Amino acid sequence: MELLATTNGGLETIAADELDDLVGADADRHHRGVVAFSGNQDDVYDLHYRSRTCHRIMEVLVDAPVAELEDVYDRTREADIATHLPFADFGVVGTRHGSHDFTSVDVAERVGQAVIDDYRESTGDRLPVDLDDPTVRLEAYLYDDRFTLAIDLSGESLHKRPYRVCEHDAPLRSTFAYSMLRIAGYEADDRLIDPMAGSTTIPIEAALAATDRVPYPGFEPALDALPRYDGETFEERRAAHEPVDADPNIEAREIRARWRRCGRVNRDAAGVECVDIIEADAREATLDADCVVTNLPFGIRVSEDLRELYSAFADRLREGSVDRCVALTTKPELVPLEPVEQYDVPYGRLEATIAVYEP
Ligand SMILES: C[S@@+](CC[C@H](N)C(=O)[O-])C[C@H]1O[C@@H](n2cnc3c(N)ncnc32)[C@H](O)[C@@H]1O
Repeated sequence: MELLATTNGGLETIAADELDDLVGADADRHHRGVVAFSGNQDDVYDLHYRSRTCHRIMEVLVDAPVAELEDVYDRTREADIATHLPFADFGVVGTRHGSHDFTSVDVAERVGQAVIDDYRESTGDRLPVDLDDPTVRLEAYLYDDRFTLAIDLSGESLHKRPYRVCEHDAPLRSTFAYSMLRIAGYEADDRLIDPMAGSTTIPIEAALAATDRVPYPGFEPALDALPRYDGETFEERRAAHEPVDADPNIEAREIRARWRRCGRVNRDAAGVECVDIIEADAREATLDADCVVTNLPFGIRVSEDLRELYSAFADRLREGSVDRCVALTTKPELVPLEPVEQYDVPYGRLEATIAVYEP
C-alpha cells in the first residue's frame, strides 16, 4: 500500500532516511513536511512505536491528476472509500497549493460529499461529519494538478512525549531534536554534549534513541477504529519491542539553575538516568565530545550578547575534540564558522537554520 508520513518542514530527507532504517522504505518528498513511501500493515504498526521523526502516518486512498474541482469528487468516488471507514464521524482537512479558481475548503467539501455518497451507496447509512474532533480524519492535498487523499492512521501527533513534565520557555519539538541528532550522525557509543540544553530535550531524545526505547509509550493510534487495521496487533508488536542494553555517554549543560532543575524532572520522567545534567557556561567550558548538538539561544528571551556568546562557543568548538556540531539558530550569520551543510526550517513563526559544522 502507499503511505504518507508527515514531519517537520525542511526535514523530509531526514524522515525518509529514518523510514529506510526502520522499515526499509524508499521514501520521497511528496511536498513540504510530507514524504511518500510504499509499505505494509506491519510497517504502519511498527512506525507508530518506533519513529522519532514522523508526526502522522497516513494511508493513501487516491493519488491522481485532476483538471477541475469535480474531478476531486469523481476520483474520491472511485476509491472504494466505504471499505476503509467505520460507521463513525469523519472530517476532511483540505490543503491546496497552486493556481485554482476554488479554495481548499471547496476541495474538502467535495471530498466529504463523495465520501458520504459512496458510504451511503455501499451501506445505506449516512456518515456523520465532525470537523472539530473527528474519529476518522481524511487529509486531502491538492498540489497544482496532483490530488492526494489519505486516511490518518495516527489521530494525534506522534511528536508528543510523556516525559515532558517541565516545559522550557523555548522548548524544542522532540522530532526536531531527534532529526538534529540524525543530522549529526549521532551513534549510541558517541560522547554527546548539548552545551545549552535548556530542559534537556536533545540529550533525552539521544538517550531514548541510543537505548532504542519507545519514544511515546502509551500512544493510542487512530487505526484501532479502522476496519482494515487491528489495534491489538499494534499493542502486541509494541509490547514485544525490547530496548537495547547500552550505556550512552551524554551530557546536558545549562547555565541557569531553573532549566537544570527542569531538565532533571524530564530526564527522570523519561527514565534515562545516563544523561548527566551539569552547570556550565558554553562561553568557557571545554568541549570534549564526538558530537555537539544544540539549540542556540535566539536572543528573544536571553539578555546575553548573542554575538559574543556564539563567538566564544565557536572558539570552544575549534579548541575541542568535536567531529560534528549541529546547531539550530535564527541567526546563523552570527556563528563565525563555515557550515558544511544547512537546512532551512520554520521554527514557530520564525525562519531558522540547522547548521552543520566540522570544526
Ligand atoms: C533555546 S534554549 C534551549 C531549549 C532546549 N532545546 C529545550 O528544548 O528545552 C537555549 C538555552 O541556552 C541557555 N544558555 C544561554 N546562554 C548560555 C551559556 N552561556 N551557557 C550555557 N547555557 C546557556 C539558556 O538558559 C537556554 O536554556
